[in-house]
Amino acid sequence: MVKTHRDTISVNDCQVLAHYQFEADQYIITLESKEIADSTRPGQFVHLSVSGMLAMRRPISVMSVDADNGTFDLLYKIVGEGTKQLADRKIGDVLSVIGPIGNGFELTDRKIPLLIGGGVGMPPMIAIAQKIKDNAYYNPYVILGSEVPFPFEASQSSLNGFNSSKFYTMPLLEEWRVPCGLASLQDYEGVYKGYVTDLAREYLDSLSSSDLKEVEVFTCGPNPMLEAVSKLSNEYNLPCQASLEEYMACAVGGCAGCVVEVATENGPAMKRVCVDGPVFDAKTVFNDFR
Ligand SMILES: Cc1cc2nc3c(=O)[nH]c(=O)nc-3n(C[C@H](O)[C@H](O)[C@H](O)COP(=O)(O)OP(=O)(O)OC[C@H]3O[C@@H](n4cnc5c(N)ncnc54)[C@H](O)[C@@H]3O)c2cc1C
Ligand code: FES
Repeated sequence: MVKTHRDTISVNDCQVLAHYQFEADQYIITLESKEIADSTRPGQFVHLSVSGMLAMRRPISVMSVDADNGTFDLLYKIVGEGTKQLADRKIGDVLSVIGPIGNGFELTDRKIPLLIGGGVGMPPMIAIAQKIKDNAYYNPYVILGSEVPFPFEASQSSLNGFNSSKFYTMPLLEEWRVPCGLASLQDYEGVYKGYVTDLAREYLDSLSSSDLKEVEVFTCGPNPMLEAVSKLSNEYNLPCQASLEEYMACAVGGCAGCVVEVATENGPAMKRVCVDGPVFDAKTVFNDFR
């Protein structure tokens, strides 16, 4: 039987508890919902009604949850009318939120999760980091890439991570003691100058051959980046789970508006990104590596 990943979905009226603006039209919004905070798995997303004026909801990944306080955070960037209207929401406003939706990432017994997020693909990587931050079995490394200023005040790391004395980190990941490197083609202080895949390659090359066998790659970001990460993973013979972004209408599996072609044992098949994904085995999506 096909698993549809609809088991966690509920409709919630969520109050806005905080809403911060960062450079380049990036925002972090905190919403209240005990159900979503309790049930979200890393890589799942919510479908938001951004205002009473737009009929269509907008899909946004859950970045982090606070189960004690029953809240969750989203990081988003204004790209069009929907996200512009979301940016106008004030503390105390109530939004209708469906979720959490999707399969999410699956952590395996590989001990070194390499988490690579680009642009608004950063949130699901932060969600994985939060999930495993207190689990001594895992030894993750996070790479975040952005071509606009990062939506946080990057700072020096005190952790013993790969090149941690050289590259700045995200304060939230530092607080969780998860090592991280930042990458950009821009000249930002403390940021690796290059693509996320360049930094990932340097990281992978720094590992022993036995550690390399423990790496599993998790990624989210624009499609060209996902394709490059998939290619790199293939080169190092590493499994790679990629979260895709597709235009969505219903986001609950009913309209087939979000289908992508995926390679399966029985040949190519059309899968719905909303409920069959958004996370897929990267090599089943990016043709060259099937
Ligand atoms: C599973 C998933 C998770 C996402 N997570 C985030 C996130 O954490 N942060 C973030 O900033 N953005 C995220 N996005 C992208 C976000 O949904 C779009 O930027 C947003 O829907 C754009 O709406 P708009 O009205 O502002 O833009 P417009 O371009 O005006 O949107 C018009 C229509 O296109 C759709 N659309 C436009 N761009 C995208 C896109 N890249 N992906 C899917 N649909 C799109 C909108 O839903 C809307 O129906 C995610 C998308 C998906 C599918
Ligand atoms: S958006 Fe309707 S099936 Fe995915």
